[in-house]
Formats: sequence, C-alpha cells, structure tokens
Amino acid sequence: MNINVPRGTEDLLPEQTKRWQVIENTFKRLAEVYHYQEIRTPIFERTELFQRGVGDSTDIVQKEMYTFEDRGGRNLTLRPEGTASVARAYVQHKLHGKVDQPSKLYYIGPMFRYERPQQGRTRQFTQFGIEAIGSADPAIDAEVIAFAMDSYQALGLKSLKLVLNSLGDKESREAHRQALVNHFTPYKNELCGDCQNRLEQNPLRLLDCKVDRDHPSMKNAPSILEYLNDYSSNYFEEVKKHLDAMEIKYTVDETLVRGLDYYTHTAFEIMSESEGFGAITTLSGGGRYNGLIQDLGGPEMSGIGFALSIERLLMALDAEKVELEQPKELDCFVITLGDEAKYASSKLVNTLRKNNLKIDQDYLGKKMKAQFKAADRYNAKFVVILGEEEVQSGVVNVKNIETGEEQSVEFDDVARLIKERV
Ligand code: HAM
Repeated sequence: MNINVPRGTEDLLPEQTKRWQVIENTFKRLAEVYHYQEIRTPIFERTELFQRGVGDSTDIVQKEMYTFEDRGGRNLTLRPEGTASVARAYVQHKLHGKVDQPSKLYYIGPMFRYERPQQGRTRQFTQFGIEAIGSADPAIDAEVIAFAMDSYQALGLKSLKLVLNSLGDKESREAHRQALVNHFTPYKNELCGDCQNRLEQNPLRLLDCKVDRDHPSMKNAPSILEYLNDYSSNYFEEVKKHLDAMEIKYTVDETLVRGLDYYTHTAFEIMSESEGFGAITTLSGGGRYNGLIQDLGGPEMSGIGFALSIERLLMALDAEKVELEQPKELDCFVITLGDEAKYASSKLVNTLRKNNLKIDQDYLGKKMKAQFKAADRYNAKFVVILGEEEVQSGVVNVKNIETGEEQSVEFDDVARLIKERV
C-alpha cells in the first residue's frame, strides 16, 4: 500500500509554492509598510495555554485540538491559532517593558485543527496574522483592519466585504450574558446538547451554533449592541470614525461573535463576495482582546490582531481569476554544445552565480533546440551559447530572449553585461 499525506493536509509542489512565495513576500512587504516585526513561536505549546487563552468552552478547545502527551508526560497541543502563543511570548519575555510600544508583531506559519476537511477547511493550514499589543487607541483597531483589507487588495482581490461588530468590555458582556440566559432558558430543551451546555458555560457561543442556527429563538436573540456601556459604545464609534477617515467601507453585523473567547470590543471578519467562491465565505477574522495578557499572567495590556489563511486566500484568488505576477525564474540559461564546452560552461555558470545571478544549464545532454525550449520554459531573460568555437575564441554570444538583441563579449564580461540588463 502506498503512503499518502494524512487527511486534511496537502503537499505543496513547486508549481504551488511559487504562488505561495509571491503571497508571503507581499505580506512581508506590507508588514514593513505598516511597521510590524516578525515573531516566531513554537508549533506546539502547553495545552493549558489554549484552554485558558482561546477558551475552554470553544469548539476549538473542546473538539478540534491535536493534543498529545510527550515522552516526559507533558500535555502538549499543536497550536490551533497564533494569538495565544504571541500573547504568551509577550508575557514571558516582558515585551511590555520594551521602549517601543505598542508591540507590533506578525507571523506566518502552520496551525492545526481537527475539523471535517472540506473546501477551505483543512486540518493543517497556514495563517498570516498580526498582533498589536499595548495600546487601547481605537486608531490601532482601524490600522489592523486596514492591514487586513490590504493583505487582499495588494494581491488584486476586489470582491471583499468587511463585517464589523463590538463585543463590548467586561461589564457590557456580563449584562449581555444575563440577557442571553434569560432569553434562551425557556427554549433550553429544544436546543442541541452543545447549546444546553453553552447556556451554562458561555451563552455567547449559542449565537455561533451551526446546529441551532435556524431555531426561532435565534432570530430575536438580544443584541450585544443594546448592552454596550458608554465606554464600549464610544469606543466602537471611534473605531468607525477612523475607518470612515480611511474610506474603508464596512457593514455592522450584531450577530458576529467570532469563535474564540478572548475577544472584547472590536470584532471583524472579511468575507469574499466573489460568485465562484465556495460555501465558507469567511476569509479572515480578528478583533480586540483586552483581558488576554492579564489572563496569561501579564500586566493589564490590551491587544488587537487578525489572521487569515493562505489556503482560503488562494480560493478567493481562483474565484476572482487573479493571476499573480511571478518574478522571472532565471536571469540566464547557458546552452552548452559538445564535451569540450562542458568545463567552460561549469566555470561560467559558477562565476555568474557568484555574481548573484539566477542561472541554470542543461544536465541531460539535450540538443540545442531542446535547450532553447528549456530556457523558454524557465522564463530566462538571456541565453548564452557555448560550443567549441566559443571555448577557442574566449568570446560568447549573449542573447536577450525578449528583444532578440545579441552581443558578443569575452567570458569575463558576461556577468557584467547581464547584471547591467536585469
Ligand atoms: P479564526 O477566525 O479562528 O481566528 O481563524 C482566522 C482565519 O484562519 C479564518 O478566517 C480562516 O481564514 C483561517 N482558518 C481557520 N480555520 C481554518 C481551517 N481549518 N482551514 C483553513 N483555514 C482556516 C484566529 O485564529 C485568531 N487567532 C485571529 C486573531 C488574531 N484574532 C486576533 N488576533
């Protein structure tokens, strides 16, 4: 029996990684533009981190974690998301004590959730995310949202919808929680088993239930927006004013609750509105988490961030038929004819590479025509033809494939000539 990849995971072959690199480079460039710096945390963490950080009553913690005991008996979990890890690192390394505040961090890496695999939902997926920790200024909420939108727009996506809500502060949430309990308790026996537990543990999660989504009690469930206290509703207004100032369009959706427990105040999601897009239309999500740093043993510091998965981003690119512009693979392909030329070719290829040029040559003894074809496939800018005659004279012909322009130069001058033109 052949061994294939585990369910819900995939191999990315060079045809695909080329696109991934364009995307990742775009994110890294945007991170520079928005002044965020990279953080890398371990792929696995102590299970307790996610229980406390993401929340014991969330689907992620209850049903989706890859948890295992290592040989030393430690309880570990493959990270299902990045925010809890970044918050842990922030506390552990006392980043709040550094001069540069807020800490503006980004990450790209694999996350793991045991979900039912379908289009846009895999068990290993790659998130790009940012976290800005140490500021409770509504302007930074708008910055994070702008960055999230830019992550798609910079790649050429257009059919996007930004959905916004506020989950309020602790006091507002408590008032809303009580209202939810009062509202749903009369229907308790009609709700699914999970929701019956949610009613006790975390009633907000009821609004996120996929089973009871169409139960009549969902329609007129109390809206968080009616329970925001003055501070929370002012904060929400301020965030919206900053978005207006940036001319970023949004729709307020009071039913948007997000699937993780750490959120306070701003919560948002970006959806694809493209026709060819699959059933899962959420491309990314994020929000503010003002209690998380404290819950993990740090000082009272507020944070906000968002994360997208590259897998869903690729679905959106396909749905909108966006072709990513890919850099040329090769600066020059060296075409070699005859045994004598092979040593000269090795030398030339080596010199060109030492000059930081992207170079390849034939290793299959192909005829000249086939070597030209290879140069074409690799999208090379130049070809150099190296046969016995060239070895004798020490002069080669450098041809620009696009313009057809040719120039004869000595071996030692090839690197300079190509460098001038690329
Ligand atoms: P999340 O909504 O759980 O939030 O995930 C963010 C994004 O990750 C989703 O919108 C989706 O693009 C992608 N994603 C999630 N699960 C899968 C999956 N099984 N397959 C493919 N893509 C998936 C978070 O993870 C928060 N940490 C975001 C955040 C950062 N909030 C504040 N800071």
